Amino acid sequence: MALETEAKRMIAEFDFTKDDVNKAVREYLAEMEEGLEKQGTQLSQIPTYVTAVPNGTEKGTFLAVDLGGTNFRVCSVTLHGNHTFSLTQSKVAVPRALMETQVASELFGYLAQQIELFLKTHHEDHFAAHKGKPNSVPFFDLGFTFSFPVEQVGINKGRLVRWTKGFAIEEAIGKDVCGLLQKEIDALGLPVKVAALVNDTVGTLMARSYTSSGNETTLLGAIFGTGTNGAYVEKLENIKKMKMIDEQEGGSNYDRSTGMMIVNSEWGSFDNALKVLPDTPYDRDLDRESNNPGIQMFEKRVSGMFLGEILRRALLALHGHPDPKIAIFKDGTSADNDMTTTTTIDPNSNLFKQWGIDTSFLSIVEEDQSDHLRITKQILEKDLMVDSASTEDAVAVKMLVHAVGKRAARLAAVALGAVVIQSKRLETDGFADIGVDGSLIEYYPGFEEYIREAFREIDGIGEEGDKKIRIGLAKDGSGLGAALIALIAGGSEQ
Ligand code: BGC
Repeated sequence: MALETEAKRMIAEFDFTKDDVNKAVREYLAEMEEGLEKQGTQLSQIPTYVTAVPNGTEKGTFLAVDLGGTNFRVCSVTLHGNHTFSLTQSKVAVPRALMETQVASELFGYLAQQIELFLKTHHEDHFAAHKGKPNSVPFFDLGFTFSFPVEQVGINKGRLVRWTKGFAIEEAIGKDVCGLLQKEIDALGLPVKVAALVNDTVGTLMARSYTSSGNETTLLGAIFGTGTNGAYVEKLENIKKMKMIDEQEGGSNYDRSTGMMIVNSEWGSFDNALKVLPDTPYDRDLDRESNNPGIQMFEKRVSGMFLGEILRRALLALHGHPDPKIAIFKDGTSADNDMTTTTTIDPNSNLFKQWGIDTSFLSIVEEDQSDHLRITKQILEKDLMVDSASTEDAVAVKMLVHAVGKRAARLAAVALGAVVIQSKRLETDGFADIGVDGSLIEYYPGFEEYIREAFREIDGIGEEGDKKIRIGLAKDGSGLGAALIALIAGGSEQ
């Protein structure tokens, strides 16, 4: 009982009530506006220079690459012009050393080599023809999905503002990432032109809009994966800072006739000042020991890279509790068979290592409905080297997992809900369409339902509004979406 009481006290720290949600939505709306007015705000609200959303009739073959987290993906995408497409891809894990190298060209050179390998494997004819006659073979337009905060100054130009998600290459900050990649592509003599710079959320929005049947366009593309972020369709006239940016950049070249532009919100840094975000001791410790303390505070409470680490710190606190009746993963009584068992944890357990718990651990435990939480015990053994965990311990683990996951989903609802409210689409169109991607939204049990539960509590959405919000998985945003933007960008060379 003592353990259960303590676990209940801890999970209460993760409560994010209806009032909290509404207060956070109000703050989000205020930050949205501020971000549209000036540069350098917490919510960056970055203009993307993408001024149209596809309707499914687009055609052609394009290359797309995706750097944004654990993997680097290269693909070629053929758009069939009837809402469908085919895609060939290869994927490699980005070597950890390259994420933190001193020399940016090491990372970008590696990416160019992967593109070369892909062309040799999947577009051998084109590759060989170009090697023979470099000036007569057409270049592939490439959409570069680069999912970090970038201050975009044109469709294929943008300066890196900061790294997130474990990347830290000082030298690249402030540089044009398309230029960095193009340089390495040219050094290898590849027939590829970096035509568009794409945030994965923008790609997700485009992909959802292309694949949805009918003429309705999507409002918002959101990622809940390793990191989190959203991009949405904004009226050009609302992006007040555009005039200033145009002046600074000497009058950027983009199509103003559509009256709209997709804005990359970079909501990972919503409320870095912690005015409305929840803050437990575990959040604080995680942030302090991260490689970017004080920033991406929303992301650090919502996305896959961090949920495991929040949980790990909470479990560690329970494990180290001075009261032996509370401390988990130590000798205990197993309720399954009424026997006293010896629970042990290996000193090399991932429980004791930063980033030692993966989000997939949370998904498995959240889903576990087995007798005496047998599955949770198994994964405790496999992932955390806990031998013979008691049912009481497993129950406490599950309670904490649920608290961390549910809080993340309710926070996600804040950002999504605020964008829906600001767009007024529920009133004007009678619905709002959202494309989503990322491991959390795809695999975390109940994530969408918890988001919807929170929607129903938000003033300005409620039961009725929730029914009008469509959320659909838009797989391949970073491939298909980037190809679509490369297509749009193809004609407008910067
Ligand atoms: C980055 C965003 C990206 C998101 C999802 C965040 O860490 O700042 O640019 O869209 O992760 O991948």
